Amino acid sequence: MSNNIKPLIKTDLGDLWHVGKVRDTYEVGSDHLLMISTDRISAFDIVLNDPIPGKGTILTELSKFWFKKLSNIVNNHFVRIPTINDNSNITDEEINRGIIVKKANRIDIECVVRGYLAGSGWKEYQKSKTVCGIQLDDGLIESSKLNEPIFTPSTKEDEGHDENISFEVMTSMVGKELSEKLRKISLDLYKAASDYALTKNIIIADTKFEFGIVNDEIILIDEVLTPDSSRFWDVDDYEPGKSQDSFDKQIVRDWLETTDWNKEPPSPDLPEQIMTKTYERYKSALEKLTS
Ligand SMILES: Nc1ncnc2c1ncn2[C@@H]1O[C@H](COP(=O)(O)OP(=O)(O)O)[C@@H](O)[C@H]1O
Ligand SMILES: [Mg+2]
Repeated sequence: MSNNIKPLIKTDLGDLWHVGKVRDTYEVGSDHLLMISTDRISAFDIVLNDPIPGKGTILTELSKFWFKKLSNIVNNHFVRIPTINDNSNITDEEINRGIIVKKANRIDIECVVRGYLAGSGWKEYQKSKTVCGIQLDDGLIESSKLNEPIFTPSTKEDEGHDENISFEVMTSMVGKELSEKLRKISLDLYKAASDYALTKNIIIADTKFEFGIVNDEIILIDEVLTPDSSRFWDVDDYEPGKSQDSFDKQIVRDWLETTDWNKEPPSPDLPEQIMTKTYERYKSALEKLTS
């Protein structure tokens, strides 16, 4: 949970079960959750003061799209879109941003798959030619495509930063059999999604999946393959040897860098034009991927 927002315990929709940087989650009965993507946006790990109107709906649409598309690989927590029967105070606008999911027993590992060398993977490679202990070829540069996608788990911390771990450490945490299953499912999901995205001119450089257990079955939970959980790059702008613009947040980040903001809350107010452009980026990600 991010440190800079205080959990709002009471809301019009009732008590929050979890408040994340972007999503608000409520319990529905004992077996389900209502997850609402808000229009909040974070940059440099801080939730900005200004929301991006319409962003929550787009992220929800994208997750729903992927849940359906990938359900042949693994079952997922999606149950249905919410209705007034789930929460009598829910508005039509919130319905568009919400999904009802099965409440799972979360496995506390972030199942990261990387097809390209970026972020913490690139940092580790420069030191040791490895990523999460996996030895890679010599001579790779920043944003290089890897020969094969790799599974690079990290711990799932409710407080503080997630930490990259080796597969061996993962097996000592959740067991060998489960670790092997999660690795295979994650790689299969990444391959199917990234092959598909390429046909739409989008590179999925890396992504993070979360899994949970319901009735002894492993299911895919949380959000899937959104710009918040993945690095999306535009095929036309891809240029290895440097860091790539992120599909969604680059406009906001670039603008924030022109201000003298110290990256502590509160953030400066975003100009109207930056908000509009950012919304257009999210919309184009959804349109490209689902067209
Ligand atoms: N089906 C599910 N069952 C139980 N927990 C879930 C399920 N889907 C997601 N979660 C958990 O709910 C929380 C959602 O938090 P999120 O909005 O992503 O904020 P953050 O990641 O910033 O804490 C995460 O802790 C996630 O692991
Ligand atoms: Mg999250």
